[in-house]
Amino acid sequence: MERLDAADVGSPRMNAEVLLMFVLGADRAYLYAHPERELTPEEAARYEEVLAQRATGMPSQYITGHQEFWGLDFVVSPAVLIPRPETEHLVEAVLELARGVQRPKLVDVGTGSGCVALALAHELPNAEVYAVDLSAEALEMARANAARLQLDKRVRFLQCDVLEPVFAEPFAVIPDRHAATPNSHDVIPSEDLRSSRGTCFSEFRDLDFVVSNPPYVAFSEADKVQKSVQEFEPTMAVFAGWHGTDVIAPLVEQAHRTLKPGGWLALEIGYSMRDEVVNLLSPTMWDDIRVVPDLQGIPRVVAAKKKSN
Ligand SMILES: C[S@@+](CC[C@H](N)C(=O)[O-])C[C@H]1O[C@@H](n2cnc3c(N)ncnc32)[C@H](O)[C@@H]1O
Repeated sequence: MERLDAADVGSPRMNAEVLLMFVLGADRAYLYAHPERELTPEEAARYEEVLAQRATGMPSQYITGHQEFWGLDFVVSPAVLIPRPETEHLVEAVLELARGVQRPKLVDVGTGSGCVALALAHELPNAEVYAVDLSAEALEMARANAARLQLDKRVRFLQCDVLEPVFAEPFAVIPDRHAATPNSHDVIPSEDLRSSRGTCFSEFRDLDFVVSNPPYVAFSEADKVQKSVQEFEPTMAVFAGWHGTDVIAPLVEQAHRTLKPGGWLALEIGYSMRDEVVNLLSPTMWDDIRVVPDLQGIPRVVAAKKKSN
């Protein structure tokens, strides 16, 4: 614990306990019930190792490989954002809007670990659920979580740039939405991927919901982001261009194309983004714009209904 304290790790006691539980494969009750228990040399060495990792600032979830979300256990790796409790507000908002919809068809954009799509599939047994991400590694992790939660028959995972499919192509050029400078582009080598602009999967028609916790941090505000997030979580899961809207802006446009009239777009947003995001929702195209605060009263979710013409 002193070691974590010295390394400026917040809540050192809790972290030390979490890592000890991980090394022993035990729960908190066991730790408190057996204060006399001595570590074997192997356990002590392993504990030293994980404490050293944690002291570098690596989040404990990337060390233990797990994070709970919506009461479900998710495996996580540095390929995906660690699911955050505030994202449960997004799940709650969609469940509220989905009440009375018989067989909701929904897409989770930027699924990462799969936490939002899988929580919704878990709660909505009749829903047709798709989950997309630009990152192939994230999709692999999301698929693994679906299998662990026995939801793999319920959710289809697709690689997309927002809602547009990604195809392998030599020397593709895609806009780098996570770049530190405005309008920068990346040349992606041949084994990587490109999206086919202007088309969406044929499944993405007449959707009831487009749901997303997109990357939304502005590179211009990178200095305000926690060091552990900057150093350990995937850049493409956190940052979205200089202003933070490089994923949200095309998402609003593509969601409008793929939702049915009366269908809902529901987005998690950053703490100061409400006006910027609401301004993207043209009143000629969207109705009934709702902003849901989190437990601290910070606007956390924006939902809008596609206008019926
Ligand atoms: C903030 S994370 C959210 C992950 C997960 N849904 C959650 O709530 O924990 C954003 C996710 O969007 C993905 N992403 C970033 N840019 C994207 C794009 N252009 N198209 C699709 N997904 C994208 C990232 O790979 C990352 O998994």
